[in-house]
Amino acid sequence: MNAIGQPMSRVDGRRKVTGGARYTADISLPGVAYAAIVHSRIANGRTVSIDTTAAGQARGVLAVLTHQNMPRMNPVPWSHLHPQGQTYLPLQDDRIHYAGQPVAMVVAETLDQAAYAGTLIKIEYEADRPVVFRPAMAKEAVEPAQRMWPLRSSVGDAEKAIADAAVKIEQTYTMPDRHHNPMEPHATLAVWDDDGTLTLYDSTQMVVGTRKLASLVLGVPEETINVVCEFLGGGFGGKSWSWPHTLLAALAAKVVKRPVRLPLTRAQMYSMVGHQAATVQTIVLGSDRDGKLTGIRHDSVNPTSVFDGYVEYAAVASRHLWGASGGISTSHRVAYGNRNTPVVLRAPMEAQGHFALESAMDELAYATGVDPVELRLRNNTDTDPYSGRPFSTRAMGKCLTEGAARFGWDRRTPKPRSMRDGHYLIGQGMAAAVYTHWRWPAKARVTLDGGGSALVEAAAHDIGTGTYTVMAQVAADTLGLTPDRVTVRLGDTRLPESHPAIGSSTVSNATAAVMLAAQAAREKAVLLALTGRDALFSGAAPEDVMIADGRLSLARKNLNITYAELLARNGLSSLVGDGNYDPVEEVKGPKAVFSFSAVFAEVRVDPDLGLVRLSRFVGAYDAGRIINPKTARSQAIGGIIWGVGQALLEQSEIDSTLGRFVNRNYSGYLVPTNADIPELDTLFVGEFDQEGSPLGSKGLGELTAVSVAPAIANAVYHATGKRIRDLPITVEKLL
Ligand code: MOS
Repeated sequence: MNAIGQPMSRVDGRRKVTGGARYTADISLPGVAYAAIVHSRIANGRTVSIDTTAAGQARGVLAVLTHQNMPRMNPVPWSHLHPQGQTYLPLQDDRIHYAGQPVAMVVAETLDQAAYAGTLIKIEYEADRPVVFRPAMAKEAVEPAQRMWPLRSSVGDAEKAIADAAVKIEQTYTMPDRHHNPMEPHATLAVWDDDGTLTLYDSTQMVVGTRKLASLVLGVPEETINVVCEFLGGGFGGKSWSWPHTLLAALAAKVVKRPVRLPLTRAQMYSMVGHQAATVQTIVLGSDRDGKLTGIRHDSVNPTSVFDGYVEYAAVASRHLWGASGGISTSHRVAYGNRNTPVVLRAPMEAQGHFALESAMDELAYATGVDPVELRLRNNTDTDPYSGRPFSTRAMGKCLTEGAARFGWDRRTPKPRSMRDGHYLIGQGMAAAVYTHWRWPAKARVTLDGGGSALVEAAAHDIGTGTYTVMAQVAADTLGLTPDRVTVRLGDTRLPESHPAIGSSTVSNATAAVMLAAQAAREKAVLLALTGRDALFSGAAPEDVMIADGRLSLARKNLNITYAELLARNGLSSLVGDGNYDPVEEVKGPKAVFSFSAVFAEVRVDPDLGLVRLSRFVGAYDAGRIINPKTARSQAIGGIIWGVGQALLEQSEIDSTLGRFVNRNYSGYLVPTNADIPELDTLFVGEFDQEGSPLGSKGLGELTAVSVAPAIANAVYHATGKRIRDLPITVEKLL
């Protein structure tokens, strides 16, 4: 093996930087028409009348669709792991449940004509006061019926442990709504062939799920639907479930009998697809005087739409991160209101939960006088506190000690406001993290051709993190080829079924299926060499056959044959290996599988202006074996930057009267730019984890976004003596 473990550059890098990579909105078909959505101005109520006369007569218009003439869709129930982003399907009735809900759709020859005609539609509304979430509403939150995991957990007796504790921390932490803001907006191009086949080119993290949902909602068999997405310009969870515009585009194409393209505008990215729900989290920690935890209580509330009970599982962090001798209890509730359904966003659950838990741990460090790194070493555990199972691998100790050493933590003076650089206050803070590892079934196919090259195929995705590259590395090593002999095709439902690009799962699962498929192809080749026509290795044992550089060899007898010669000799044009990775779910396995990290931040705060600048950052990660250190590091620095956004910049604002997200573009929604980010230092300290994946890997991408915010908040406290429990940490909160 020699490609795995190498810092290989992306195989699709050249195509991406030269414009050769085609994203969904780049794909053109002859005769394409364009659809534009008209939105509700109100967040709650109904439409009383919709006058489309002028729009219908406008130049280029092919169809004007409202709830009165839109083809009907099959309602489909919603659940956390369903492909449906929200159950409410627009243009089916006169009700309005959220601001920005589609109330009409215009299809025209050009996008400008469709958008202009939309402005000519006259709509009368009957408006009710919208229910808009405020943190104070957390008190009245309820448990929804839909759930992915248990809403509540209780191990031991956390209440008693906390009541008896020598030291107690109790605080509430709040985080705002956030939007995904990928560079590439969602887009759909729908085309119906004469034989009734529907092809959806869709900007999605899950071609397979999109096909399933389209089949259910449109009442068309799955076999007659293709969904294609070869490249994604960022997904961030927003493209991991399907949103109504994809279904609307499919129906519009049916109505006008032409291919229809529906690209969302940047502004529509804040109303037509999901967002991360705000959270209100209360943490109670009980510990002894040495900082050994005795009890943890973590309760989280988030807003959701009126029709779906989306739970942001923020408190899962506290189920798995630290041991607590007396007990741990967690709960989740939701508050229904007028908004579209929230969804996962960039390290969902953990990225929110750890801000609360790891901020509270820092407060405990100050309350007990125990160093924050030492406090975490004292509470480290080899057993998952939630399930009682041993962790498969847990290099938390290494993350803490090696990360601290790299950062120079021993030079920190613990007292707030004790470190300065001239005018600036210097703050150093840290936090640790645990991240959920998913085990999902996945299929893949590897085809060896007569020229001695291999083709890898799977209906998986490269969300931008390097899947094309790592799959080529894995197939190359397994087949004894150099990676440049391997081509990877992804993002098409006509390929072997795989899982969505969510949950940082693609290396461990979809890529494991590629390894199995490559093994199957390799075994077929070996069998041919042993028993095929004019078998060169006749009589030898399979395990004696070595493969390298596209050549099978029997060292003992000094015999060798290339794949190309082997296939030619047997009159074959190709050899196909099928991979079927079918793991037991993580929760049913004998070991608890999670990824871990410890991260360290240094900030410089201007005491007069309240401005926070990140000046240094070290992240130490246990994500099992790293397949490609270069793309892994790229993921890590990307994740850290997401975390910096969460800590210091990102928030979606809702107008409390109108119930409308007021963000419309990148000038009204701040994300970090290069000027905000210093050199980021990353270390990978994990080892091969057999339980995580046949490849030895565990989830990496989103892990790196977790606990960046509390590390920065803890650094801000160290710099200023101000504890900010409400993200983002803005100037006005520090002055
Ligand atoms: Mo990710 S938020 O699991 O797409």
